[in-house]
Amino acid sequence: MAKASGTNNQSQSAVGEPYFCEECKRNHTKGKIYKEHLNFAKFESVEDKVVDDNIEISDLVSNDDSISKEEEALSYEVEEIEDVDKVIDEDDLDEEVDEDDLDEEIDEDDLDDELENYTDDANACVEAVKKLPGVGEATLKKLIKAGFSSLESIAYTPPTIIQKESGLGDKTIEKLIKASMEKLGIGFKSAEVVWEHRKNIARITSGSQELDNLFGGGIETGCVIEFFGEFRTGKTQLAHQLCVNVQLPKEAGGLNGSALYIDTEGTFRPERIIQMAEGHDLDHKKVLKNIVFGRAYNSDHQVMLVKEATNLIKEKNIKLIIVDSLIGHFRSEYIGRGTLANRQQTINGHLHDLLRLTDIFPDLCVVVTNQVQSKPDVFYGNPTVAAGGNIVAHGSTIRVYLRKGKGEQRVAKMIDAPHLPDGEAVFSITENGIID
Ligand code: GTP
Ligand code: MG
Repeated sequence: MAKASGTNNQSQSAVGEPYFCEECKRNHTKGKIYKEHLNFAKFESVEDKVVDDNIEISDLVSNDDSISKEEEALSYEVEEIEDVDKVIDEDDLDEEVDEDDLDEEIDEDDLDDELENYTDDANACVEAVKKLPGVGEATLKKLIKAGFSSLESIAYTPPTIIQKESGLGDKTIEKLIKASMEKLGIGFKSAEVVWEHRKNIARITSGSQELDNLFGGGIETGCVIEFFGEFRTGKTQLAHQLCVNVQLPKEAGGLNGSALYIDTEGTFRPERIIQMAEGHDLDHKKVLKNIVFGRAYNSDHQVMLVKEATNLIKEKNIKLIIVDSLIGHFRSEYIGRGTLANRQQTINGHLHDLLRLTDIFPDLCVVVTNQVQSKPDVFYGNPTVAAGGNIVAHGSTIRVYLRKGKGEQRVAKMIDAPHLPDGEAVFSITENGIID
């Protein structure tokens, strides 16, 4: 509960203003990222909580504070050791990440442990990075620690971000990006090659044939899909259903993969996953185990969780990332016109982090949900628009508007897609999940 109240305190202050952070029990400045918040930005397996700890599901979901006591204790331990009042300031970071200094900070055992968890596929990616010209042991460690463990992650990330996160020098990064792009053959290609790629694009079934048809045969990978609509229109239900369906075999409309769920509103419900798994005759324990869950307590946590997700994608065979919801924290934390530019800039960076993941991992699907805000000046037609404005509209590849129908029915309307016609689909939310 303490974590959630920190968010509230933060929400009352504008960017640049001090606020009392309940999580750290210290004064912070709104809009800055704090080192100690990294302690809260952690993922956990849903199954670990439900099965291993023998916690009743109802306990789990009624307890908003999903950070375990051990984690909390750990965060206090870290507080004692570090000077946690120190804000991660860009200038400080530049000084801090003098390459030799960083070498000392990186614990070799840590890195070996990390690599041990990698799948063969992920290790092959690391091997490719290792073979780039000029990549020695120290550079490789810095890259992996910062989440750049594949050629794609280096090639598609702006140099300034690689520098900020890895601490490597400008020239080294420039060379690494150039070499990665050459190895990946990034440049112009014929439309035929692009078509070959698109023909084989992987899709996840939504559970409803009509809704799948609206998407041209299922929710496609390699892009960011936004579901927006009013409350109770089924955004969270769809997000849950996709976490189950992504685990189905390919012939059943899945991707044989795992899901990563970033919950910003505290509305993730393992019992709904169990019901939906049962709808497919799946072992719900296995289904829960294959969902990596992270609760974002404020917008800083949310941004950090996405950054942290990069390393988990290969390791855990993640094929679907959910952010439910994308804008909620930003809306409540950045209040007033004066904060608008700052808010939009942060959301833009966050969306680009998500989009970049789909470039790096083309068989990954990113689904975000979004609330609507009322447009009081509209008298005819739909008086609601998606929150987040043009930044979110242009950041999402496919946008679908959800509204309530009769009873269990919901209507999905294709608002924007580069290759799909406008259209509508009706689906139902039932106990066992989404159906026609
Ligand atoms: P906000 O997050 O408030 O913006 O709404 P949302 O769009 O995320 O709504 P959500 O996906 O949580 O949908 C909630 C609705 O799903 C409920 O009002 C019910 O209509 C339906 N629903 C949830 N669980 C069940 C269930 O077990 N059986 C049935 N039949 N419907 C359910
Ligand atoms: Mg919801």
